[in-house]
Amino acid sequence: MGMTPEYLIVDKELVREVTVKQFDHFTDRQPFARRNVDDLLARSLLSLKGDDWRKMRHNLSPAFTGSKLRGMTELMVQIGVQFTKFVSSRSNPDEPLDMKVTFRRFAADVIATTAFGTPSNSLQDSNSEFFVKGTSLMDFTGKRRLVILGYTLAPKLMQLLKIPFIPAELKDFFTNIISQTIKYREENNKSRPDMIQLLIDERKAQIQKCKDANKPVDSDTIMSDLDILAQAFTFFLAGFETVSALASIICIVIAGQENVQIKLRLEVDEAFANSEGGKLTYDAIQGLKYLDMVIAEVQRLIPVAAFGDRVCTKDLHLPEFGITFKEGDIVGIPFYAFQVEKRYYEDPEEFIPERFSEERKAKVPPFTYMPFGSGPRSCIGNRFGLLEVKIALAYTLAFFDLELNTPDQYPIRLDRKKLDNAPIGGFLLKLRSRENPVVDPESL
Ligand code: HEM
Repeated sequence: MGMTPEYLIVDKELVREVTVKQFDHFTDRQPFARRNVDDLLARSLLSLKGDDWRKMRHNLSPAFTGSKLRGMTELMVQIGVQFTKFVSSRSNPDEPLDMKVTFRRFAADVIATTAFGTPSNSLQDSNSEFFVKGTSLMDFTGKRRLVILGYTLAPKLMQLLKIPFIPAELKDFFTNIISQTIKYREENNKSRPDMIQLLIDERKAQIQKCKDANKPVDSDTIMSDLDILAQAFTFFLAGFETVSALASIICIVIAGQENVQIKLRLEVDEAFANSEGGKLTYDAIQGLKYLDMVIAEVQRLIPVAAFGDRVCTKDLHLPEFGITFKEGDIVGIPFYAFQVEKRYYEDPEEFIPERFSEERKAKVPPFTYMPFGSGPRSCIGNRFGLLEVKIALAYTLAFFDLELNTPDQYPIRLDRKKLDNAPIGGFLLKLRSRENPVVDPESL
């Protein structure tokens, strides 16, 4: 019996070839879940293949343009304000705060308001159902680990045994929220600048197009409720752990490097001094250039996703590389390995945000820096995620001083026994309310 070969790309030019130039031969990645595992996950942009993927990516892309992000900034900033109030109530240096859990609450609130179109109150209510259920959805330990293993090894048997991939209670909860939102907005003709609205509007446009062309309105021509639901669900899956992991790792770096913290604080203070009542605008956030450099450099050294893959969908011979890929071959792309390669980065292990300054970032060799992947199948939420992380960090820096909980937390060493990029020493930091913040947090 033949095995599917696994290739590991070690040449950046081959990354270009596979992810961009020959994309038609590598449109898919290994599916997150097959149709026989879970229909919701199978309809997710993460898992869709070929033309189904193309159509859905085309439908979703308008949700992530600069103008749509600008429109969603206000919703995210409201969560930034709630985040500040939440941390203020807990900023006691004697009781360190778990930054990962705190940013998870922030990320859950952002996704709830922008993708599900409903508040989740994860920051205001420690027992928020959305947060509690979302956290258990993303918990892949204990019994869930066995279920995932079962589906990897014997999906048919798992279905025969009627063991669902996602516990029914969790799936029903999220499905109901979305279904109710769609129903309410369609029946009441209500609108809001969020992602679910974009999908509802896109479906309306598809229906109109069918009617204009006298074509039947069916699941082949328009997005189904399941499609819309699957994408909102995807945004939760793709944006919850990634954003909270990145923001919390950056906080440890900031706490470990006082000079970086001082410089960031100056930049953020200026933005808040020019703001109206401490509400940052899209342009003010985009103007935080040093913060952008720090985030970029942390993503180089400690990327949330260290590895990616593509599946060959059509045979391809590449004579210049002396390789023939066959349909079904799996090609691994070690994003992280390129990012710490000394041929491309001087002192690759050193934390030097200036590598990403306006003047220097153009010199970063293409296809050696891929925190959001590469090519048409790269992260669709790239700019959305960065905006979110910047808002979370700007509000943290404007109102709190960050201090390591234990000296062994920095320089960061990852706990290789854990799969989730957990640093040795954990995510606990001591937070103290700043003595003279530019804006009074009470006035927010
Ligand atoms: C800062 C946080 C984030 C990081 C580091 C990150 C990273 C990534 C990476 C590495 C990939 C795979 C790219 C490839 O294979 O080339 C990916 C895919 C994806 N991400 Fe993100 N992501 C982040 C936030 C988000 C957010 C907030 C969303 C949604 C709101 C999102 C939605 C997606 C989706 C839907 C895909 C699949 C795209 C496709 O297959 O067409 N991500 N992400």
